Amino acid sequence: MSEAGSDIHEAAHTAAPVAIAVEGIVKRYGDFEAVKGVNFSVTEGEIFGLLGPNGAGKSTLIRMMTTLIPVTAGRAIVAGHDVAKEPDAVRRLIGVIPQALTSDQDLTVEENLSIYAKLYNVPRVQREKNIAEVLEAVDLTKWRRAQTKTLSGGMRRRLEIARGLVHDPRIFFLDEPTTGLDPVSRIAVWEMLNNLKSTRNLTMLLTTHYMEEADRLCDRIAIVDHGTLVALGTPAELKQGVPGANVVEVQFDREDSEWLARLEGLTGVTSVQSLSGGGYRVLTANGSKTTMQLVEMVAERGETLTSLSVQNTTLDDVFVHYTGRQLRDEQIKPVNFVMPPRPGAQP
Ligand SMILES: Nc1ncnc2c1ncn2[C@@H]1O[C@H](COP(=O)(O)OP(=O)(O)OP(=O)(O)O)[C@@H](O)[C@H]1O
Ligand SMILES: [Mg+2]
Repeated sequence: MSEAGSDIHEAAHTAAPVAIAVEGIVKRYGDFEAVKGVNFSVTEGEIFGLLGPNGAGKSTLIRMMTTLIPVTAGRAIVAGHDVAKEPDAVRRLIGVIPQALTSDQDLTVEENLSIYAKLYNVPRVQREKNIAEVLEAVDLTKWRRAQTKTLSGGMRRRLEIARGLVHDPRIFFLDEPTTGLDPVSRIAVWEMLNNLKSTRNLTMLLTTHYMEEADRLCDRIAIVDHGTLVALGTPAELKQGVPGANVVEVQFDREDSEWLARLEGLTGVTSVQSLSGGGYRVLTANGSKTTMQLVEMVAERGETLTSLSVQNTTLDDVFVHYTGRQLRDEQIKPVNFVMPPRPGAQP
């Protein structure tokens, strides 16, 4: 082996083991490029999130990594195997939860799990042990004999998670694990996934369009938009990457084309964006100073603020920073500050 070769060998020993490596991966449907040359790698034991709006290419990426659709160009190495060259080896080592619920409604919880374990050729004794363990992990032990159609949406999601784990995979792919769930069930699924991470030596890759989900659950996040990866990092790194530490959202009683320029001129302001529902979103390095100046400016001009809020940078701002759009076009936050007009001010 050449010296350079042994150096590479050394480096591989010291670096954290890679569970998934995606290199220049492309998916084309006819003329349409759904995934446009994406690169990232996931370290063993990590929870990695693909965050993006509808149609960003999240499911397409997952389908390629899990051998469900062919890769147009580039490659994906999953658990040490190239998905295009050794799909069977990849399939044995991964668990997949697709975006739609797919467990059989007419079977019991246990039967759904058993069928999957058999599909994966898990031997009988091991099968019983695995089923008991995954039922416990998703808190469905006492429902094992219940018909799947009698379960709530949250319980069905948990059954799908159990089913994806019944053959003891090393890498777990989850496509939108909490979409359609109520907030309580969503938090229960997050806790479950966090427990799975700490109790099993499992790497997880999930997709989501919920900022909070990505923020709370993922060690690292890749933001995907229009088939490209626009940012990648830990939630904290992504937030730090946005110029400005605070976000001031403000709405004025009277619209005026000059507000944008006036806001941009305040101390600490790094950028100002007009919101679709009226008002402005101001990124600033110094939330309190900017706010004080803003209030003074408004008072001096005899104008009125209808709402004002100051927050820390969130993943929403990260998304706006990299894509120029909001992931959810939500309205300005509820009014939490109202300034009366100055006595004698001109209307
Ligand atoms: N079989 C297909 N043929 C043609 N176009 C497709 C096909 N599957 C997906 N697409 C297109 O590829 C793009 C990416 O779709 P994909 O399902 O990966 O998005 P997504 O990020 O998972 O979105 P969602 O949040 O809605 O699940 C979309 O524009 C979609 O219409
Ligand atoms: Mg999808």
